[in-house]
Amino acid sequence: MKALVLAGGSGTRLRPITHTSAKQLVPVANKPVLFYGLEAIAAAGIRELGLVVGDTQPEIEAAVGDGSAFGLQVTYLRQKAPLGLAHGVLIAREYLGDDDFVMYLGDNFVVGGINGLVDRFARERPAAQIMLTRVGDPRQFGVAELDAKGRVVGLEEKPAQPKSDLALVGVYLFSSAIHAAVGELKPSWRGELEITDAIQWLIEAGLRVESSVISGYWKDTGNVTDMLEVNRLVLESVEAQVRGQVDETSELVGRVVVERGAVVERSRVVGPAIIGEGARIQDSYVGPFTSIGAGCSVIGSEIEYSIVLPRASIAGVGRIEASLIGHDVEVTPAPNTPRAHRLVLGDHSKVQISS
Ligand code: TTP
Repeated sequence: MKALVLAGGSGTRLRPITHTSAKQLVPVANKPVLFYGLEAIAAAGIRELGLVVGDTQPEIEAAVGDGSAFGLQVTYLRQKAPLGLAHGVLIAREYLGDDDFVMYLGDNFVVGGINGLVDRFARERPAAQIMLTRVGDPRQFGVAELDAKGRVVGLEEKPAQPKSDLALVGVYLFSSAIHAAVGELKPSWRGELEITDAIQWLIEAGLRVESSVISGYWKDTGNVTDMLEVNRLVLESVEAQVRGQVDETSELVGRVVVERGAVVERSRVVGPAIIGEGARIQDSYVGPFTSIGAGCSVIGSEIEYSIVLPRASIAGVGRIEASLIGHDVEVTPAPNTPRAHRLVLGDHSKVQISS
């Protein structure tokens, strides 16, 4: 069995972060979200991995390399434009040959790994096996309809009137039957080759499509709220570890990781939280569920429930919450005379200003 990981796409929902970097490399607990997927694939005993990449190929390649750090052999497959998930399968046709494969969306996060799913697929050999999870508002997702035995009888992409609350998770297992389906697809209304249409084709061709409903947690990390939630979830399970320096006037409460070369001075850090390599925390408060990236500095400020990417600096700005701060960003106080708001707001903006 091979793996096909989709790490192209345009990442519009994570702009402006994704203007300059790949969303699959946004860190969760200071590790790119993509790496959790690669680790899950390696843990399932898979060795050969095709990595579908787009414009951010150089950055992804710099992070993943030949895959040997994960115990994987990675082959890069360049997609000229993000023409849909099924288009990723189309361009991987030659690489995949007639092998079974697991397709994994590079920005998804699946708790508990994929070993159980891969074992079940190998035992039962359906044409496809999908993973589903119950969601509050199925209209945002690909939605599956099941029969009484749990077999999939229909799939719809973002339906106005969902037939169930079971949404597709970004991990799929396919036999080579999927290639015939993908070959027949026409672009959808949004101009993409949809994997849901390919699976629907399999169902209509009378082939077996099985599903597993997972109660474990998953998130499509496509937007900021989800990223912060996944970061919280992963930090829940970190163990306290101090490899950097913490002075006597500082206090670490609960599970706090201070990486090598990091310095914490006159500050209070309440875990779970992680302070990356070479970061500097001075005269500050870092609250729960916060990941501070390598080389960042937080000085005279408070930050909680946030992700700060490498080399950002935050100085003298009071309290920051529920924020995603990009690489090399500088956050500083506005000069306070004259005391007025200066705004450049686009049409339909919604702004909260404390008066
Ligand atoms: P999506 O989140 O569905 O799409 P996107 O990356 O274009 O993001 P947005 O909706 O915010 O614009 O993609 C899921 C994963 O699949 C993600 O890792 C990107 C990847 N992908 C490809 O590799 N090729 C594609 O053609 C598409 C659509 C996605």
